[in-house]
Amino acid sequence: MKTLRHAFALFALATVISGSPASAAAALRSNTDESKVGSLPLPDPLRAEDGTAIGDVAAWRARRRPELLRLFATEVYGRTPDAPRSGLRWETTSVDRTALRGKATRKEVTIHFTAQSDGPKLHLLIYQPNTGPGPFPAFLGLNYFGNQCVNADPGIALSTAWMRTSAEFGIVNNRATEKTRGVHAHRWDVETVVARGYASVTAYYGDLCPDHVNGLGESVGALLKSGTTEQRPADGWGAIGVWAWGLSRALDYLQSDREIDARRVAVHGHSRLGKAALWAGVQDERFALVISNDSGCGGAALSKRDFGETVAMINKNFPFWFALNFRKYNDREAALPVDQHELLALVAPRPLYVASASEDLHADPKGEFLAAKFAEPVYALYGKKGLGVAAQPPVDHPVGETIGYHLRTGKHDITPYDWAQYLDFADRHLKPQP
Ligand code: GCU
Repeated sequence: MKTLRHAFALFALATVISGSPASAAAALRSNTDESKVGSLPLPDPLRAEDGTAIGDVAAWRARRRPELLRLFATEVYGRTPDAPRSGLRWETTSVDRTALRGKATRKEVTIHFTAQSDGPKLHLLIYQPNTGPGPFPAFLGLNYFGNQCVNADPGIALSTAWMRTSAEFGIVNNRATEKTRGVHAHRWDVETVVARGYASVTAYYGDLCPDHVNGLGESVGALLKSGTTEQRPADGWGAIGVWAWGLSRALDYLQSDREIDARRVAVHGHSRLGKAALWAGVQDERFALVISNDSGCGGAALSKRDFGETVAMINKNFPFWFALNFRKYNDREAALPVDQHELLALVAPRPLYVASASEDLHADPKGEFLAAKFAEPVYALYGKKGLGVAAQPPVDHPVGETIGYHLRTGKHDITPYDWAQYLDFADRHLKPQP
């Protein structure tokens, strides 16, 4: 273990960070010049706050893991409240065993968070293979424009929730229209997922916390008395925390569905929802596999590297996503007691996949790779091999054992190429090996 820790420190020092001066005027600067990343050290996931070295799984679990979880909760995302003790219930609203030309069963389930039918709720959409009774392993992720955006299937109930107006996606006056059906089908690739033997499960993130500056005062935030963007405890949760909480409530339901194998659920997400998927997978160890697609700042990318989106930028542009405490680190990334490699390490020993896109400099592809790399010592404690490579692979070369990684050619998005890698990785980790 000594050698590993030593290697970690050297690698970290040699590769990372910046030391740009903090000033209000420079608050929204963004560096995308690799020669300008600096050399601040990264915190060592295997050293407790008081300096004690963490040398085995028992010490990691008893001491360092809880410490890191607490630091991410208080300093970054905000603390997550427990699920409501009463009122939580599920209602199946539709089942069609002939969906996707007979290849799938489509189920819609409403998760009510209170006993009242007009209280906050999450509408789940499930496609599962028709190849047998199951239970099927599943991919679970939140979507951006309502369940009907993931497939053109006319049988999906159209979301009636608030969403960002978008002419491109057929959102008029903050409401989905028929035109939104299937607008994100390429991001979900439902037919392929089902053909590969998995269920595809999704829900609209805005059901949980509408993605606008007053969102914390609505839906789940209102129910759990979360306060508002500016008036909440310094360690009160933000929208990312609420979205992550919702993923766990979806998993609660899946545990009750006999056609789904809740012990084999991969939680995934793109971009801001990739941040939420990571935070959900970290906190809720029932998730068997965790996938981050282009999650960037506050997701898989190292904050201290100072490349692409910065802590100051994200807090300024999205003041309700993180805890108020996270603002302490605007232009002061060096003071952050954690960095995102430690978030990834909290997934260990479960399989983790991090994907980047070559043109997505805002999300810092190299910082995402390095975070996965620096999570490896924790996987090694469990005797697991992480990426299995020393340097970021070239484009379109997926790598990895227990930690998967690829850099896809192209833009900030999820494509069938990304799905092909996730499915291969899930086959290796969630399906019985010959
Ligand atoms: C913005 C934001 C990112 C986020 C992205 C998205 O670009 O700066 O942090 O990941 O939106 O969710 O698409």
